[in-house]
Parts: sequence; C-alpha cells; structure tokens
Amino acid sequence: MLVTASIPELRSALAARRALGPVAFVPTMGALHEGHLSLVRIARAEAATVVVSIFVNPLQFAPTEDLAKYPRTPEKDLELLRGENVDAVFCPVASEFYPPEFSTSITVAGVSEGEEGAVRPGHFAGVATVVAKLFHVVGPDVAVFGRKDLQQAAVVARMIEDLDFPVRLVVAPISREDDGLARSSRNVYLTAPERKKAAAFPRALFSAARRVAEGEPVPAVEAGVRQELETEGFSVDYAEVVDPATMQRVSRPVAGAAFAAAVRVGKIRLLDNVVIGSSPNVSIGSLPNVLIDSSDDLIGGGS
Ligand code: PAJ
Repeated sequence: MLVTASIPELRSALAARRALGPVAFVPTMGALHEGHLSLVRIARAEAATVVVSIFVNPLQFAPTEDLAKYPRTPEKDLELLRGENVDAVFCPVASEFYPPEFSTSITVAGVSEGEEGAVRPGHFAGVATVVAKLFHVVGPDVAVFGRKDLQQAAVVARMIEDLDFPVRLVVAPISREDDGLARSSRNVYLTAPERKKAAAFPRALFSAARRVAEGEPVPAVEAGVRQELETEGFSVDYAEVVDPATMQRVSRPVAGAAFAAAVRVGKIRLLDNVVIGSSPNVSIGSLPNVLIDSSDDLIGGGS
C-alpha cells in the first residue's frame, strides 16, 4: 500500500495502474470507523485500484469549530486500510496542499444553502473545493461517499455535473451502531450518558420516516419529531423531509425523499437521515449514473 503526501508520487503510481481497470476513490478525514470501511469495500468491489485520502480539511471548519481537536488516529487508520487491500493512501500536508497564496473556492449554490449550510456557513464551499482538488489529483473513475452526509453527497453530485468531472458518484448506505446511532468520527466525544441518549435520535427518525410513508401529513410529522426530540433533551437544528437531489424541503414525499435532521446533545452535533419508503435505487442529482443505494442501512458490524 502506497502511503504518500506527494502529488507527483501518487500520480505516477496511479498512471501505472490505470490500464488494469477503473480507479475508485474514497475521500476521508481519517479517524476511520466501520462506516468509512464500508465505503472502501464498495470501492474495492467497483475498481481495480482503490485510493483513500486522509486529510482533515481546514477549509471546511469555521474558526469556532473543532479543527484542532478533530480526532486523529493515523497509525490505526493505515492498519485498517491495509486490512481492506487499499492500493494507495493520499495524506497531504495542509501547508503544502494549501500554500499561503491559495485563492480558489468552489461554491455550489442552492443545494448547499439550507440545513447544514445554514448552520455552518462556508462549510460546503470548503468541502466542494477540497473534493474538486482531490478529484484533480487522483483522477478517479468512481468516487464513493456516504449517505450519512446526505447534503454533502448532493453538493458533490451537483458539482460533478456542473463541472463535468468524469466521475461516477456512488452513495453508500449509512453504517450504524447496534442501537441505530449512525457511526461518526465525532461520536468518541460523547460522554457515556450522552451516548446512551443518542440512540433516541435515529429511533425518532425511523419512526418519522415510517409515518410519512404511511401517509401522515409531513408538517405534522416534522413538528411531532421536533417536539419528541426536544422532550428527550436534544436541541434541534432542523428536522425535515427533503428531496435529496436539491435538499429543498418538500411537503409531500417525492421519490427518494429523506427525513433529515441535526440535533445537539451537549456540545456534540449529531447528523442523520432516513429514506422514506423503500426505493432500491434513487438518484441524487439528475445524472443517471449517480446512484444512491437506499437498501437497508447497515446496522451493527457493518458489511
Ligand atoms: P468524513 O467525515 O471522514 O467522511 C468520509 C466519508 O465517509 C463521507 O463520504 C461520509 O459520508 C462517509 N461516512 C461517515 N460516516 C458514515 C457512516 N456511518 N456510514 C456511511 N458512510 C459514512 O465527509 C468527510 O469526511 C469530508 O467532508 C470529506 C468528504 C473527506 C471532504 O473533506
């Protein structure tokens, strides 16, 4: 497994492998868990060469956020990726990847503005910029993102389409702990009582998604979930039914609509979404080659 911070070294290693078949890419910020590994396994099944990046991208953190404290476990990450037969790991150094004169930013309007974008201004410009840069460095045929970050996937889908990246986006199911909590690198920050309480969040979303699928009016379900979560002690940033292609709220469940929410428990934000109804293959964005596998989420040990 090649581990490098050097763009030329990565490019020449990948050039030598392109004749073998497609290159699949999984961008991450490290502190890898089973959710990340489920993406790597999808990439492995899709391609001859699998590239993972590990880079805690400063552009997507606001000054008030946890850039310095973001969990970093580099040795363990590499061990896990070796175990998944990854071919190359790209771990750029921030001061080289973004030299002082770095000036470019990619803004994806519309789809990036509500939900997470409203709570975290500038976040998705940071994500779009780093993902575009990583796509240029790696040159993947396939990129695998998690549906855990539904809006991120929608922003990347829009950018791929708008900027004609020759990349097929695969959006992978959410990997969950045994009690249903979506896996996240930031879950390690939860205290034991917070961690226990956190399981009520996905429970509320699964029940809300089911009620919408059964025909209950969307506004009533949204208001009910908000109240339920607040009663449980969460502070609710948003809890709403969205069209995953546009991230616009919808008052009737369109194909592939999701119940998406973000809450705070103590200092930690939890983010999750549940697809409404069962549509095996729903698009994010309008490209037919953009797949979201909304089959049952992976609960427990992963794949
Ligand atoms: P990170 O939070 O490390 O996540 C990397 C990828 O793993 C994302 O596509 C995310 O959606 C996916 N992922 C995280 N938890 C998951 C879970 N429980 N189930 C399935 N997939 C999961 O997202 C980022 O990093 C960054 O914004 C990045 C895209 C790397 C740009 O900096």
